[in-house]
Amino acid sequence: MSNIEIEIYPDDQWVDRVTSRWAAFMEKEPAARLCLPTGSTPQAIYERAASTIDFARTEVFVLDEFGLPPGDPARCDEMLDRDLLSRMSRRPLNVHTLNPQAPDMTEECRRFATLVEAGGLDLTVLGLGRNGHVGLNEPGSAANSPTRVVQLRGSTIEDAGRYGSDVSPTWGVTLGLRQILASREIWLLVIGRHKAGILQRTLTEPIGRQLPATFLRRHPRTTVLADESAASLL
Ligand code: GLP
Repeated sequence: MSNIEIEIYPDDQWVDRVTSRWAAFMEKEPAARLCLPTGSTPQAIYERAASTIDFARTEVFVLDEFGLPPGDPARCDEMLDRDLLSRMSRRPLNVHTLNPQAPDMTEECRRFATLVEAGGLDLTVLGLGRNGHVGLNEPGSAANSPTRVVQLRGSTIEDAGRYGSDVSPTWGVTLGLRQILASREIWLLVIGRHKAGILQRTLTEPIGRQLPATFLRRHPRTTVLADESAASLL
């Protein structure tokens, strides 16, 4: 059984439609606690949303972070700032990030998870990794996996090389599937023909750790927001 809903938009309308959907959500929940991804998928939405949606009362949590030095252009906090926050006229009340340089990473993960769990997440937006990861919950991650340090798989390391750094990260820290799946609402953003195969597998393979995104099918309020290219194999 699957609760997941799927909305498919023409490639050239995807940004408009998803941004409008987000604007409608924010009208209803202007003080939402949001967990947001970085990477290439949400970039155009962020550009549009920054100037059209009021985030002043929101609280934002970054979904994950790479094991890279502060200020590295491929860091998720840098990408979120570049793509979304720096373009806002009124910034969110609070932006919570994960610090991969914290002296005690176990404690850092606990701190972040506690903050998330204290008020929960109203909306978690996710991208889809080529290998089916969400956040940096790589294949092998259990549905109750905690917020933690993770070693990255080959395709994730390769893909992270596209984000503008001189070095590719080999590890990262991610919000756990446990916290992601506790979010009241989840949107999985998927665009491009290169994601068609993994999206099809996400929706059809048995639910399990071999493909962490499949766990979203058990969540009561998850919507896949795909463009026609990504949905071409459905
Ligand atoms: C990266 C990020 C994820 C992102 C996903 C897809 O590794 N850490 O948060 O959602 O993989 O990335 P992209 O949108 O660039 O394809």
